[in-house]
Amino acid sequence: MSNQTYRAYVIDETAENVFERNIKDRSINDLPEGDVLVKVHYSSLNYKDALSATGNRGVTRKFPHTPGVDAAGVVEESGDSRFESGQEVIVHGYDLGCNTWGGFGEYIRVPADWVVTLPKGLSLRESMIYGTAGYTAAYSVLRLEEYGIKPEMGEVLVTGATGGVGSVAVAILAKAGYQVVASTGKTDQAEFLLNLGAKEVISREDSKDQSGKPLLKSRWAGVVDAVGGEILATAIKSTNPRGVVTCCGNVASADLPINVYPFILRGVSLVGIDSQDSPMKLRQQIWGRISSEWKLDQLEQLTTEITLQELDSNIELILQGRQKGRVLVNLNQ
Ligand SMILES: NC(=O)c1ccc[n+]([C@@H]2O[C@H](COP(=O)([O-])OP(=O)(O)OC[C@H]3O[C@@H](n4cnc5c(N)ncnc54)[C@H](OP(=O)(O)O)[C@@H]3O)[C@@H](O)[C@H]2O)c1
Repeated sequence: MSNQTYRAYVIDETAENVFERNIKDRSINDLPEGDVLVKVHYSSLNYKDALSATGNRGVTRKFPHTPGVDAAGVVEESGDSRFESGQEVIVHGYDLGCNTWGGFGEYIRVPADWVVTLPKGLSLRESMIYGTAGYTAAYSVLRLEEYGIKPEMGEVLVTGATGGVGSVAVAILAKAGYQVVASTGKTDQAEFLLNLGAKEVISREDSKDQSGKPLLKSRWAGVVDAVGGEILATAIKSTNPRGVVTCCGNVASADLPINVYPFILRGVSLVGIDSQDSPMKLRQQIWGRISSEWKLDQLEQLTTEITLQELDSNIELILQGRQKGRVLVNLNQ
């Protein structure tokens, strides 16, 4: 087994800060130490993978490297009694795809503590349609619930709504009975968002207040934000008294131009979402919800399925903010 080669999407640094992406044969021997060797069947493309694939040192310090923060597959060998060969598993986050070779290769080797047993009710393929972005969307909805936001309390805004996190958040919220307003830069994709369950689509421009006012007319019972910057600031300033805003991303900006008034005058809560290191118990809870009451009927509508060969063009699309829904990477071909 250990001498066997496998195909992987490999990023090489050919000169300082010059990166090349190729599909190469690698030896299983070269995988890092770990308890569990997994034959990867599916992965998915997340914004972070695109950063890793283009040499972003905040994500990946050393090259050559294989990105892919997500992997779903079958245990090939396990040195840990919790897992045995033939078992279907999911691995996402922790260091996978950052500085540990990730899911854009046919094999990964990881610590047993990173491995989630595939929940009943979900196939390997379906798990990677959700992937990290879908898990993050579900995590955000879970936090809204835990902070007491109920469907009858009013509208919930989702920003970056056609993206990976956004599109799954729209669909899960709608399935859970919330009235979802989707904010998007792709207003030509309104039909896509309405089909996922949004009741209204608003433009990115209308989601960005530039008046400088500390508070705006309140509208949202809850917000799931994946973009940061002025859009997140506007959403917080427009949240109802004791409403809840989750924050997971920074595709627009890592800055948050806001003051304390929404928090001290309206009791708004801003809740951080950190899927990468979320503890195993939380992972099992969220995957449990995803595989049962939050299992979506529209999974195929959300999905663009690609092979390793098609990663290059899809990485460019996601970096330009032009990707729609989830990109499933099929490693079986
Ligand atoms: N904290 C965590 O645990 C966690 C986990 C997963 C992802 N994330 C982060 O969440 C963010 C979204 O990830 P993703 O995988 O969903 O990415 P994605 O598929 O690229 O979605 C991002 C969406 O944001 C919108 N957008 C893009 N550029 C924008 C800009 N300049 N201004 C405003 N909106 C913009 C676009 O949607 P519209 O065209 O519809 O507006 C885009 O499709 C990323 O920052 C990612 O790193 C964090």
